[in-house]
Amino acid sequence: MKLKLLTLAIAAFQATAIAAKADDNRQVFIYSPDKNGGLHIAVQEGGKWREAGRLCSSDYGTWGAEKLMFHPSVTRAHDGTWRLVFQVNDHSPQFAAAYSNDLVNWRPQDYPVMSTSQCLDPVVFPNPDGTFDIYFKSPEGKRWTSATPNFRHFTPDSASQISDEAWMRDTATVDGRLHEGNSFEITPKEWAKIEQHFKQSGEDWRKSNERMHDDAKNAPFSMLKAPLKATLTVDMNKKKAISDKLIGIFFEDISYAADGGLYAEQVQNRDFEYTPRDHRGWDATTAWHSSSPIDIATEHPLSANNPHYAIIGLDTLWNEGWDGIVVEKGKKYDFSMYVLGGGQKQNFKVLLVGQDGQVLAKGKVKSRASDWQQYSTVLTATGSDAKARLALIPQKVARVGIDMVSLFPQETFMNRKNGLRRDLAQVIADLKPKFVRFPGGCMSHGQGLENIYHWNETVGPLQDRKPDFNIWNYHQTRGLGFFEYFQFCEDIGAEPLPVLAAGVPCQNSACNAKGIGGQQDGIPMDQMPAYIQELLDLIEWANGDPLTSKWAKMRADAGHPAPFHLKYIGIGNEDIISTVFEERYEMIARAIRQKYPDIKICGTVGPFHTPSADYLEGWDFTKKHPDLQYMVDEHYYESTGWFMHHRDYYDNYDRSEAKVYLGEWAASTNVKRPNVETALAEALYLTDIERNGDVVEMTSYAPMLSKDGHSNWNPDMIYFSNTTVRPTPAYHVQRLFSVYGGDQYVTSELRIPNAELSHRLGASVVRDSKSGKIYVKLVNALPCELQLTVNGLDIPATAKIEGFEGKPEDQQFTVNKGEAGNAIVLPPYSFRVIEL
Ligand code: AHR
Repeated sequence: MKLKLLTLAIAAFQATAIAAKADDNRQVFIYSPDKNGGLHIAVQEGGKWREAGRLCSSDYGTWGAEKLMFHPSVTRAHDGTWRLVFQVNDHSPQFAAAYSNDLVNWRPQDYPVMSTSQCLDPVVFPNPDGTFDIYFKSPEGKRWTSATPNFRHFTPDSASQISDEAWMRDTATVDGRLHEGNSFEITPKEWAKIEQHFKQSGEDWRKSNERMHDDAKNAPFSMLKAPLKATLTVDMNKKKAISDKLIGIFFEDISYAADGGLYAEQVQNRDFEYTPRDHRGWDATTAWHSSSPIDIATEHPLSANNPHYAIIGLDTLWNEGWDGIVVEKGKKYDFSMYVLGGGQKQNFKVLLVGQDGQVLAKGKVKSRASDWQQYSTVLTATGSDAKARLALIPQKVARVGIDMVSLFPQETFMNRKNGLRRDLAQVIADLKPKFVRFPGGCMSHGQGLENIYHWNETVGPLQDRKPDFNIWNYHQTRGLGFFEYFQFCEDIGAEPLPVLAAGVPCQNSACNAKGIGGQQDGIPMDQMPAYIQELLDLIEWANGDPLTSKWAKMRADAGHPAPFHLKYIGIGNEDIISTVFEERYEMIARAIRQKYPDIKICGTVGPFHTPSADYLEGWDFTKKHPDLQYMVDEHYYESTGWFMHHRDYYDNYDRSEAKVYLGEWAASTNVKRPNVETALAEALYLTDIERNGDVVEMTSYAPMLSKDGHSNWNPDMIYFSNTTVRPTPAYHVQRLFSVYGGDQYVTSELRIPNAELSHRLGASVVRDSKSGKIYVKLVNALPCELQLTVNGLDIPATAKIEGFEGKPEDQQFTVNKGEAGNAIVLPPYSFRVIEL
């Protein structure tokens, strides 16, 4: 037990005011205005405190309920750097700890786990040896822990007898309210950096709010006189190699993208495994109906991973499907189910019944076996209905168990069994994505440690796959599992890019049973070897030889003896780049590098662009460990204004560092639906991505799919219902850049006399070295016509041209095809691709 006396604490406390005394030094006060407000700084001016801005905010736990900051305590180390601790809530054995060199950029927060049930009001003091003392209160009394100088490692906590004076804070009245906090004297240079940061953020915010929709109200756009004239000068002698995989897709089971969506299974809750964890109010009988209560049993399960099944007596059992079952006249449907006879024989009528009670298809199943046995029949529809139901009608007096009740249209994508919805898969295939990222998103790292996606639970016989709740508040059957994802990639000629957890769950996870929230301290170190092995097994499963590898044999047994040729693996999904993350990422990446040096590892740099804490720390980590990733995954969802004003984002990236995978991105307006404005902002940005295709290897718009009535997120690339598939303007931009992509970037320069309009114009020339074709992409995001003179490239009047135009708010348009004509004229708010 460490006994710390008040004198030591006070000595440390005083050591915080280390800035040299000078007349022009600034007095600042660091505090939190309220639990949701994060850490703020005020500066003293004319004897009063002026609020200057927010320095950082809490990243602990779930959105809504958590992300709170109580009682921040800030101290200055003897080397001038800063440390912050704060209480995260009143029910977790954790406090938050963060580090900053300059008060502007903060390293992502760590949440050390203490031995107590609560860590209340932590306070931090520097020691002369560079370490830090941290005291906090708990139901067990005052406690003490010590932090290493880099603030990454914390000793086990013990009782402390420090005086209450350690918790004394400064006070200041800011904006008329009295606050507790810490005051410091800092140099003019330090203050100038902080002020500049706030000024820059304000300017960025202003630009990010620029909207095409408002052009008629705002100069210079409201003053423009058509036609504008611009010149595109192309230098065919100056080319550079760029990635030939720039456009891929992001697939996550969000907004019913998989179950109820792309996965063609028509029976909802086929395995009777729904639980309230999936969705409040759901249970094993959800989506099933009968005139009497449905009995659910667990005594003799079909599979340990599917413990529940229904007992069916004489009453008809109905399944409502996913918002109904689509039945089309003349089409065939594969019905199957497992029956547990238990010594009884049963005959079932299997019907598809329309909304008006009309029987649309019928079949019979005779169960004879005593133990679980699968029975199947093919139903041929004699009528159509978009909202039919499935009826199982027992014909004899008997009570038998049923499980894995399934109905698939025979016409799936590529006619695969256990396949994908044909219309939806075809629209995705038409995009000609160069890669598919799966299974998420947040679904990869999951809501808490227990919900981390384990690929090996998603392969093999359907009844043995392990269903789980979906972080997006519904159920994952895992019927669309890793085998089906890899098969789909192969079917559409895309590279598979599985992204799996880096040994940590989503940082927005709720508290577990021990009260540990967020990353929940990661997979315990003693379980990491098994987790790492699981990831190595995936590579073996995908690429191994069935004759020598049991994992590859599983793949062969599932119908794919040839390897899937996995080349990429993603580790982590926009994680907070905490110490817990870094330690686990490094272990995983080292193991993969050692065993499979040819596999290209994709790391992550958090959920946002520069200058967010995770982005900065993620890139710092990446640069310090160049051997641990081939590329890193960047994510940012931003306004159209942000994209139009950050056209140079990748221009100055160091080409000798890791490549970039822009794995999740989308432009949005307050309407939160893709429209001409978002599409043009994305097209502009993609011309810049092509220019930077030597450092950006891949991009994927996110999310891809959203089912009507089940949306978790907006905007999305493709909206759909059971009977419609509706690609959005975002889809068309992705498709045009994908279909007309190249592997060489040709230097070009677009000039317009009025330079302040240039962020609204885009041009990019790429060449496909295999076909020799050249593609010229042109974007006009201005409200008036643009006449373009092209130098250095002959564009014949017969050249093929494809594109769209519209009003910024239009959510639909027709993609037109035609010929270039003699002059290149871009209508207001338009996009064109010319093929040469
Ligand atoms: O694309 C939707 C979600 O956005 C993803 O699951 C997550 O990675 C990101 O926050």
